[in-house]
This record gives sequence, C-alpha cells and structure tokens, in this order.
Amino acid sequence: MVRGPTHGPTGPDRAEGPGGVRRGPAYAGLVSAAVPLVDPFRRRVQDLRISVTDRCNFRCTYCMPEEGMRWLPRDELLTYEELTWIARVCVERYGFAAIRITGGEPTVRTHLHRLVELLSQLDVDLALTTNGVKLPELAHDLRAAGLQRVNVSLDSLRPHPFEQLTRRDDLHRVIAGIDAAIDAGLDPVKVNCVVMRGVNDDEVVDLAAFGRERGVGVRFIEYMPLDADEEWSMDRVVPAREILDRIDAVFPLEAVGAERSGQVEPAERLRYRDGRGDVGVIASVTEPFCGSCDRVRVTAEGKFRTCLFALEEFDLRAVLRGGGTDDDLAAEIERAVGTKWAGHHIGRVDFVRPPRSMSQIGG
Ligand SMILES: C[S@@+](CC[C@H](N)C(=O)[O-])C[C@H]1O[C@@H](n2cnc3c(N)ncnc32)[C@H](O)[C@@H]1O
Ligand code: SF4
Repeated sequence: MVRGPTHGPTGPDRAEGPGGVRRGPAYAGLVSAAVPLVDPFRRRVQDLRISVTDRCNFRCTYCMPEEGMRWLPRDELLTYEELTWIARVCVERYGFAAIRITGGEPTVRTHLHRLVELLSQLDVDLALTTNGVKLPELAHDLRAAGLQRVNVSLDSLRPHPFEQLTRRDDLHRVIAGIDAAIDAGLDPVKVNCVVMRGVNDDEVVDLAAFGRERGVGVRFIEYMPLDADEEWSMDRVVPAREILDRIDAVFPLEAVGAERSGQVEPAERLRYRDGRGDVGVIASVTEPFCGSCDRVRVTAEGKFRTCLFALEEFDLRAVLRGGGTDDDLAAEIERAVGTKWAGHHIGRVDFVRPPRSMSQIGG
C-alpha cells in the first residue's frame, strides 16, 4: 500500500465540540502534499461514504426488518464535527474527490444542513442519498448549505408495490421530494431503484419513462444480499443486462463511458438515442465493479469499512475519542485500506454475509 505523508500532530489546534467531544482543527485549504491512498490491488481509494444514522422512517424489505431494529444510542453516533474530522483527513492527506452522505435515512438526523455546511468547505463532490420523503421541507436548505447532488430512492410508481416495498404509504411525498430537489437546483438529481424479480421488475420501463419526463437519470440497482430479513436469493436478482434490454426495446439506448471526470462510477451509463437523458445500471451482483472500486465507508458509530461486504471494521471513534491526532486517524485508515480485498464473493460457496444489513452499514 502507498502510504500518505506523515504530518505533525495537530493536537494544539483541536477544540472542544458540543457535548465535550473533541473535534479536529478547522479546514484550512487543501494540503498540496496529498498523496493517493492505494489499496493492495493498486486501486486508488478516493470516495468516502458517510453514514449519519442507522435510523430510518421507511422499512424497505430489501434493507430493514419490519420491526425489532435496535438503534444505536445517541452518544455512540459520531458528531458532525467528528465526521468532518475524518472527511478532512481523507481529503487533505489522500486527495479524496467525493463524499456521499447516507444512512439509514440521513434526513432523519436533525440539522443535517449543518453537516453539509461543514463538509462543503472541503471542496469535494458532495452528494446525498435519501429516500426523499423529507426533501420537500429540506431540499432548499441543503442546497443553500452547499449540497451539490442528490440520489433519491424510488422503486415503484404504483402505490401498492411502493407500500409493499417500503412498508410506508409515502409515494406522493417521494415524488414531491424529487421535484423539490430539482426546484432547489440540486444537480444532478438521480433516482435509485432496486429491482426485485416478481416485485417491481415489470416497472423498469415506466421508471425509465418517469426519469425521461423529469430529466432525472435513473440508476437501476441489482438486489444485493444485505437485507435484514435474509430473504435474498439469486432468483430475486434481475440482471442489469435484462433491465437494459427491456428499456432498450422501448427507448433505444447507446453506450457512454463509465468514467466521469477521473472518478469511478459503478453505474454503467447509457444514453437514450433520442437525446432524452441517460440511464444507469449497477450490476453489483452479476457484473461486479470491484476491479475499479474506489470507495470506503464510515458507519454512523465510526466504524471504517473498505467494502459493503467487508467482515472486518476499524474503529475510528476509538481513535477520535481516545485523544488521537490526525496522524493516528490516518494510520488507522491506512491499516484498514491495507485489508481491502479484491472483490466480494456473492454467488460463490465461500460468500459470507456481513453481520450488518444495509441501513447499518450506509449504502
Ligand atoms: C441504505 S440506503 C440509505 C439512504 C436512504 N435511506 C435511501 O434509501 O436512499 C442507500 C441505497 O441502498 C439501496 N439498498 C438498500 N438495500 C439494498 C439491497 N439489499 N440491495 C441493493 N441496494 C440496496 C437503497 O435502495 C438506496 O438506494
Ligand atoms: S433503503 Fe434507505 S429508506 Fe429504505 S429502509 Fe433502508 S435506509 Fe431506509
């Protein structure tokens, strides 16, 4: 692994945050000596996914159980200052290019715009993934705080399947949330759609049409074995090829490059031949993009993970709250990245499900 430069301790700069929690020094501009963080398989790590909560106002069947989730106590969650500290070290030391805020449902955490304000000072591509239900109230404030882009999850346009999937009757609010995001100037606004055979796979063309009408790109995601109910099976996965074939038969498609301004995009992107936007598929199961994966994740309680399916976690909260410096944090991040594996083993006999489900990891 290529190690980043070692900066001197930053202890004197640290200040007390709310609740007596120490926070890192204020961001003072990108350190020119940022050195790429490279994993054992020579992939540059540069995309940080930050989960701000394990809680959610939905209960999507492919993610959470209907009831019985045990929530993290409030004091176990990283504060916004602590999350920003981790993000700052990733940007300053390793030149991370992208940060995505996720959860659980990130908008159920209070004053989310405060975190956006803090992270927007890092001058990276700043995005949010949300179920959209609170966007009608929040979209403008998030945009004003510095959020650039948003992905809204929407798996069905029909009230009944929507309610079956999310266990909530909020379809109209999610669509209003997408419209609010567009109205607020978030750009791009994208839709994430998890496709499950026998549940919503008959809607891919309708969802594509919805995206074309609204001017939002739809990203169809293969169902992954990260559901809390452990009901995933390969026959519920609709392969990305099949999704594209169905759309192409109605709205002819042509390929566009997968790379976007030097960053890796896991979605294979295609555009409509008639110029009405684009569509993407994330074939995590049938055509994994592990070979070009540039992502790492921090869970809401500060566990650093190098893959959605990782079985090992690294406790950044212990470093932050144990008097650690930027150097200590960087050392733990580098130790973790040194364990990033070549790829997941979904569909193979040696695949082991991680003990956390999607909402506890941060999708
Ligand atoms: C865990 S959610 C968190 C953010 C927000 N609550 C939302 O739903 O957009 C992030 C993304 O993961 C997707 N997701 C959740 N469980 C999944 C699964 N088992 N397979 C594939 N995608 C999944 C969701 O559809 C969503 O687009
Ligand atoms: S996918 Fe998102 S909205 Fe659905 S239960 Fe999971 S965290 Fe909540």
